[in-house]
Amino acid sequence: MKPDITIATSAAVQRALDRYAQQPGALLPVLHAIHDELGHIPADGVPLIAAALNLSRAEVHGVVSYYPHFRSEPPGRHIVQVCRAEACQACGAEALLAQAERVLGCARHHTRADGAVTLESVYCLGLCASSPAMRVDERVHARLTPERLEQLLAALEIGP
Ligand code: FES
Repeated sequence: MKPDITIATSAAVQRALDRYAQQPGALLPVLHAIHDELGHIPADGVPLIAAALNLSRAEVHGVVSYYPHFRSEPPGRHIVQVCRAEACQACGAEALLAQAERVLGCARHHTRADGAVTLESVYCLGLCASSPAMRVDERVHARLTPERLEQLLAALEIGP
């Protein structure tokens, strides 16, 4: 791992610990803060978190791996999330996710080899009444159609 990544990890972990370590049930707030800052929970941060919170590395790793929200690897430059919760499933989410895989050239829960995009399925974006829904980076989109999905992904200009 590059030294600057380790420095970034160390700094992000320390900021999260400074903010949340003293409160009860600190692990999840600490993990969320690190994830929000870095886009993932780096493996080299786990020992620091465990030591500060008096937990084992296995306990921290167990929580990170239990929640699909937490990535263990850095995401691509763009993040595409297709909702697969119940309302969206009923409105064709699975077909849209398969379409996104084809258009992006990237399997779900993976990052494309060139690092351009990470494709994820998620469980509810809060737009159930307007499903199916997806998020592209920071923007959510509702009432998706295959045509609209194609337009949104083409707008990323990352090629196949
Ligand atoms: S079920 Fe998809 S947004 Fe809620």
